[in-house]
Amino acid sequence: SLFKSSYRAFTNIALIKYWGKRHEDLFLPLTSSLSLTLDAFYTDTTVEFKPNAKADVFILDGVQQGVELTQKVSQFVDLFRETAGMNMPVTVTSINHVPTAAGLASSASAFAALASACNGALGLGLDNRALSIYARQGSGSATRSLFGGFVVWHKGEGEDSQSSYAEAIDDAEWDIGMLVVIINQQQKKISSRVGMAHTRDTSPFYAMWPSEVEKDLAAIIPAIEAHDFETVGEIAEHNAMKMHASILASNPSFTYFEPDSLVAMAIVKELREQGIACYVTMDAGPNVKVIGRLSEMDQIIARFKHDFKADQLIVAKPGSAPIELKA
Ligand code: DP6
Repeated sequence: SLFKSSYRAFTNIALIKYWGKRHEDLFLPLTSSLSLTLDAFYTDTTVEFKPNAKADVFILDGVQQGVELTQKVSQFVDLFRETAGMNMPVTVTSINHVPTAAGLASSASAFAALASACNGALGLGLDNRALSIYARQGSGSATRSLFGGFVVWHKGEGEDSQSSYAEAIDDAEWDIGMLVVIINQQQKKISSRVGMAHTRDTSPFYAMWPSEVEKDLAAIIPAIEAHDFETVGEIAEHNAMKMHASILASNPSFTYFEPDSLVAMAIVKELREQGIACYVTMDAGPNVKVIGRLSEMDQIIARFKHDFKADQLIVAKPGSAPIELKA
């Protein structure tokens, strides 16, 4: 109906990580990054602008949220209200779809869904590249969730917000997926926002990070285009380890690794020695994502079940760009 729209957006996992901003308020990154959108984790969001309402309302998983979260949503929706030249109150209703309460509720799918639904509700007709620039200003990684498959988020130039957007490079319709190993469902202790600023400001290894990312991007893009699974996995794993090494070298030091993260990493090495190519990536939390061939996932899962419970193991296939949910 008028002023109302619903979208589903999928989360993404970076193979070449975004870790560090050059502009905090605009969420402009210090490097470009590259991800795979996943089908298993997503957010459904309905946006309705209500001319007669008194205030903005944000309902998450059936619960109306307090001032702090509602204000975050309001500020984000303001970007769209400014574009549309109107000031109607909004009601935003979101449901995070995360298998088995995995605690992977993701700001990436959340802001991508919210941006898509705002565009629909206001009839702005913005394309996904334009929407990625909006989503970026909610959470950097959300930039990449406006597209499916393999996606590059370009760092852009200087303070030019319009130059930092996402672009799809490959639909990922080949033999690749991820096994997400849920190690801890709790909220991360150090958010990525805080952790990346601390690393940038205090880690002596961070000086090398931007040039490592450049090299890794230049090598992984042709490997993706060639559907070269092993090269993609090797580069992604090395990139993630370089990020976590520079985090560990920050001062005061910290890490997202937990004991079971190392257990999962050892299993991946063991599988590789047995001839099953699979690789690790990790983000700002202890959960381990195993990059594997979908055709070998059953064997990978069978080995993980020796050390982890079945409900800790979630297979994700490549996901799509946001999809409109019709009433
Ligand atoms: C390790 O996008 O969560 O997952 O932009 O401050 O909201 P903000 O940070 P966020 O950072 C993601 C960091 C990462 C790597 C990645 O997704 O590229």
